[in-house]
Amino acid sequence: MKTLVIGGTGLIGSKLVKLLIERGHDAIAASPATGVNTITGEGLDVALAGVDTVVDVANSPSFEDRAVLEFFQVSGRNLLAAEARAGVRHHVALSVVGTHRLAESGYFRGKIAQEQLIVAAGIPYTIVHSTQFFEFLGGIVQSGTQGDEIRLSPAFVQPIASDDVAQAMADATLAAPVNGTVEIAGPERVRLAELVQRYLRKTGDARRVQTDPGARYFGALLDDDTLVPGSGPRLGKIDFETWFSQSGAKK
Ligand SMILES: NC(=O)c1ccc[n+]([C@@H]2O[C@H](COP(=O)([O-])OP(=O)(O)OC[C@H]3O[C@@H](n4cnc5c(N)ncnc54)[C@H](OP(=O)(O)O)[C@@H]3O)[C@@H](O)[C@H]2O)c1
Repeated sequence: MKTLVIGGTGLIGSKLVKLLIERGHDAIAASPATGVNTITGEGLDVALAGVDTVVDVANSPSFEDRAVLEFFQVSGRNLLAAEARAGVRHHVALSVVGTHRLAESGYFRGKIAQEQLIVAAGIPYTIVHSTQFFEFLGGIVQSGTQGDEIRLSPAFVQPIASDDVAQAMADATLAAPVNGTVEIAGPERVRLAELVQRYLRKTGDARRVQTDPGARYFGALLDDDTLVPGSGPRLGKIDFETWFSQSGAKK
C-alpha cells in the first residue's frame, strides 16, 4: 500500500513516515520542502500517482486568524480534488480534540473548515482528534504571555507525546476508514495552568503562571470539558515526566 504524507517533514509527519516504513509500507513525505505544495497545487498530481492513502498532517505556517482559515480551506480543497482525480481510497487527517467546541478561536475555525471539507468530499476518511502535544507546551506559554505575565486557564487538558500521536496515526493509516472521528489523548488529566507551571520550573524558567478562568486559549474561553476527550479515547503511554526526561529538556 502506498501512502503519501502531506506535511511529512513536520513534527508528526516525519515520525509517521519513519514508522510506516519500519512497518514495511511504502510511505512518502510531501511538503513544500519536497516540491509538493497544497496551496499552489505544485507537484500534487505527480505525487499522488498510484497512492492509496493520503495522510494530512500539514499545518498553517501562520497562526493569524485569516491566514489559518485560508490555509486549511485552500489546502483542503486542492488536496481533496487531487485525491479524487487520483482515485485515493482513504484520507486520514489529524485535528484537535474539542475542535467543534472552540469556534471562538481563529485557529480552530480553520480546523473546523478543514474537517467540513473532508466530510463533504466523498472520499472514505478517518479524522484523528488528538489532545495537545507536550512539544506544544512552549507554544502555549507564548500564547498566554502578555508582557511579563503568563495567564492561563485552569481548565483540564490531557496532553500527549508526539511519539504516541505518530503511533496512533500509523494505526489509523493502516486500518479501514472509519468515516468519522477517533480520539487520542495522553495518560494523565491535569490542569493547564498547573502543567505549564511545572514545565517552566523544569526548564529553569522562574516565571509564575497566573491562573485565570477568563484567560483565552488561542482566542477561546475554556471550561473543564473543552480540551479533553469523551469516553473511550485511545491513550498514549508517555506521561509528562517521561516525555520531559527523554526530550522536553531539549525544547
Ligand atoms: N500542536 C498540537 O498540540 C496539536 C494537537 C492536535 C493536533 N494538531 C495538528 O497536528 C497537525 C500537525 O502538526 P505538527 O506540529 O506536526 O506540524 P509542523 O511540525 O508545524 O509541520 C507542518 C508541516 O506542514 C507542511 N506544510 C506547510 N505548508 C504546506 C503546504 N502549502 N503544502 C504542503 N505542506 C505544507 C510543512 O512543510 P515544510 O516543512 O516543507 O514547511 C510541515 O511538513 C496540524 O494539523 C495540527 O492542527 C496539533
